[in-house]
Amino acid sequence: MSTQGTIGIIGGTGPQGRGLATRFAASGLKVLLGSRDAGRAAEAAATIDGAVDGDTNEEVARRADVVLVTVPWEGHGDQLAGLADALAGKVVVDCVNPLGFDKQGPYRLDVAEGSAAQQAAALLPGSTVTAAFHHLSAVVLLDPEVTSIDADVLVLGDDRAATDSVQALAGKISGCRGVYAGRLRNAGQVEALTANLIAMNKRYRAHASVRITDV
Ligand SMILES: NC(=O)c1ccc[n+]([C@@H]2O[C@H](COP(=O)([O-])OP(=O)(O)OC[C@H]3O[C@@H](n4cnc5c(N)ncnc54)[C@H](OP(=O)(O)O)[C@@H]3O)[C@@H](O)[C@H]2O)c1
Repeated sequence: MSTQGTIGIIGGTGPQGRGLATRFAASGLKVLLGSRDAGRAAEAAATIDGAVDGDTNEEVARRADVVLVTVPWEGHGDQLAGLADALAGKVVVDCVNPLGFDKQGPYRLDVAEGSAAQQAAALLPGSTVTAAFHHLSAVVLLDPEVTSIDADVLVLGDDRAATDSVQALAGKISGCRGVYAGRLRNAGQVEALTANLIAMNKRYRAHASVRITDV
């Protein structure tokens, strides 16, 4: 892939999808926001400056070159199972953090496949699945006052060309750097780390993310 292609976002009407779309569009990329409802997608797209359009998740999966997944964990499996044909041949970037919340705060959920990204890979045998963007806060992504985001984006996957292209995509977000962080089988702890970041956010009233040293 080149990052010159169209970026699709499944579940793109939520804060994370809109936040990423805002940053990609600001860098000059063409973005398609997906929704279960085409009207909702069009409404969300109209709120973002730049080349952003909306359509159903299925149409977005068919039309985009690289497809991010930003649906809640609860809908992840069913949503992706229904898009396997449309996503065949595409690089898919799973951004989903399977987390639970109780009185003690956030915690990782057990996933039979090992991680949301591995579940995606199992459901999408025709796609090249990667995982990234787990630790970028939607609040920060959507804040127009934040012109540069101080964060490394950990990128996981089993295909070098795909992880290279997703690293390049992360680098399109002003301030961010994409860092290769291992094979897809190591995605579980990267997804789960978000529970630690949310705990930090609560304690320090922050929007914590990660930076990797000596790379
Ligand atoms: N929020 C953050 O700061 C953040 C940061 C890093 C990663 N993430 C991850 O990004 C994902 C999205 O986060 P979010 O806060 O944007 O979530 P969200 O607002 O709860 O959901 C995003 C969109 O997914 C669609 N959706 C809702 N339930 C669904 C279901 N059962 N099946 C299919 N689609 C469904 C909805 O769009 P339609 O109703 O229009 O279809 C919704 O607007 C999560 O998995 C989260 O772990 C979030």
